Amino acid sequence: MIDLNSIPQVAYEEMNLVHNEEATLLNNLETTIDEDGQNVEKIANILHELIEHTRGHFANEVRLMKEVGFPALHMHEGEHIKVFNEMQMVFSNWLSVKDNELLKEYFLGSMTEWLKMHIQTMDTITAQFIAMNKS
Ligand SMILES: [Fe+2]
Ligand SMILES: [Fe+2]
Repeated sequence: MIDLNSIPQVAYEEMNLVHNEEATLLNNLETTIDEDGQNVEKIANILHELIEHTRGHFANEVRLMKEVGFPALHMHEGEHIKVFNEMQMVFSNWLSVKDNELLKEYFLGSMTEWLKMHIQTMDTITAQFIAMNKS
């Protein structure tokens, strides 16, 4: 479980709200796999919701970066694209093999670790720049 208090806070509040929502969806995924692991439809719905939320999360950051002319936009966006592609690959693999352990390993392991690290680095720098330059 992700402790919402452990998520690094960035200088642009709207981004913090989105990060909390994303962590909550990851926690929902964990609870559902642990308590209702055979419920394919329920897990698929949460994964779908998580992926769509991530799509919006990343798109909104790109929109903000463009608005303020953030210089490292492409580097930041590149990290998003890489992880978004992985998420979709792991989801479609799960749809064919229904291996919940692989799902946990990725979403509750590496992706969760990536998210915290990404917030602490790229998002933190980006949010500072947005907070200073947004009109
Ligand atoms: Fe973010
Ligand atoms: Fe980001």
